[in-house]
Amino acid sequence: MKTIAPQALLLLLMAKLALTNHLEGSHTMLFFQTLLTWHGFMESQYTYLGYVDDTQFMGYNSRTDKPRMRPHAPWMHQETPEFWEYETQRALNLTKQLTDELKAVLHIYNQSTTGYHTVQMIHGCTALSEGYFRRGYYELNYDARDYIALNEDLNTWTAVGKAAKIIRYQWMMLDFAESLKIFLEDICVQTLQTHLKNGKEILLRTDPPKTHVTHKVRADGTITLRCWALDFYPAEITLTWQRNGHNHTQDMEIMDTRPAGNGTFQKWADVGVTPGEEQSYTCHVQHEGLPEPLTLRWEPPQPSVPTITIVTGLVLGALLIGAVVTFLIWKRKTKGKERAGSELMNPWEYQVQLRVCPAT
Ligand SMILES: *[C@@H]1O[C@H](CO)[C@@H](O)[C@H](O)[C@H]1NC(C)=O
Ligand SMILES: *[C@@H]1O[C@H](CO)[C@@H](O)[C@H](O)[C@H]1NC(C)=O
Ligand SMILES: *[C@@H]1O[C@H](CO)[C@@H](O)[C@H](O)[C@H]1NC(C)=O
Ligand SMILES: *[C@@H]1O[C@H](CO)[C@@H](O)[C@H](O)[C@H]1NC(C)=O
Repeated sequence: MKTIAPQALLLLLMAKLALTNHLEGSHTMLFFQTLLTWHGFMESQYTYLGYVDDTQFMGYNSRTDKPRMRPHAPWMHQETPEFWEYETQRALNLTKQLTDELKAVLHIYNQSTTGYHTVQMIHGCTALSEGYFRRGYYELNYDARDYIALNEDLNTWTAVGKAAKIIRYQWMMLDFAESLKIFLEDICVQTLQTHLKNGKEILLRTDPPKTHVTHKVRADGTITLRCWALDFYPAEITLTWQRNGHNHTQDMEIMDTRPAGNGTFQKWADVGVTPGEEQSYTCHVQHEGLPEPLTLRWEPPQPSVPTITIVTGLVLGALLIGAVVTFLIWKRKTKGKERAGSELMNPWEYQVQLRVCPAT
């Protein structure tokens, strides 16, 4: 079996927590653990990811070369080797702990250990920027069937499934919630505050979305207008289409907000439109980074492109090609002097050198 990208599972978990995430002026630190096992526990993958809001700051993946807890955000590079050693050891301990719990659950169901099994766990806290505790999280999910979560009162548990109810009983006997409460209200909030302080340039920034509307004719002749929001942070955003000033939900499709891979997010919303009615539709974008919600319309392209641009473009293009060719010839000559039987360099190297040229 190929290993599953932890992000795939993570998205499910984050979608579930998204509802709790937008308390005004608050920040959330969450740790996501996923254990997948197959072949009767002979094979497994364990991941542990730490997030503040929508930014990952550390992570562990057992199916990498030399698995270790590693920094994933610039401010984490100031941590000592001892810190990473400790966190790696903790990840190993947690792997064993989750494995044992999963075995116990399978035992409760008298279920064989062959086939695929999973445990997912989330824990963490939400606090106001001044450090006031707002919410704690501690949830476990076994094989997407049994679910146990600490309630918002940090005292009682929600349990779904026979095994989860047995676990709840055991945890109540141990007063587990009481020790968790201390961890979530104090230690978790203090750690979150430290991250917000050390990583403030990244965590406390707002990148407003870059927006535009595109236009596409469908096979049936109707039109899709797509409203784009790109390069924004944090991930929380609202995109809506209105028709003549009223919210429009008919023939609409909204893509889940997705990470761009560099710490920013992307989203789009499509609406189906009768040709000629494009101007009745407006897209509305709300985001923390925008002083006012944006209103966008489809802007048809200008009917004729000024010829002057084309001519300038052609001349510039010709000049550029000339420069490249001249450079290539020169390069081959000089290279021939250095090394007999010179082969062509890779084109990327040429580009780099060409760009350096004007500066000298
Ligand atoms: C990991 O488990 C070992 C053995 O139970 C324990 O001695 C050690 O303190 C644990 N380390 C961490 C970081 O949790
Ligand atoms: C558990 O499974 C075994 C083997 O499949 C079976 O013999 C046994 O009766 C089962 N026990 C319970 C409590 O279901
Ligand atoms: C339209 O949708 C937006 C976003 O979901 C919402 O905030 C607003 O209240 C809605 N307006 C009406 C008139 O329903
Ligand atoms: C992130 O990536 C997008 C698309 O790949 C790019 O347009 C944007 O400039 C990048 N943003 C940052 C902050 O690097």
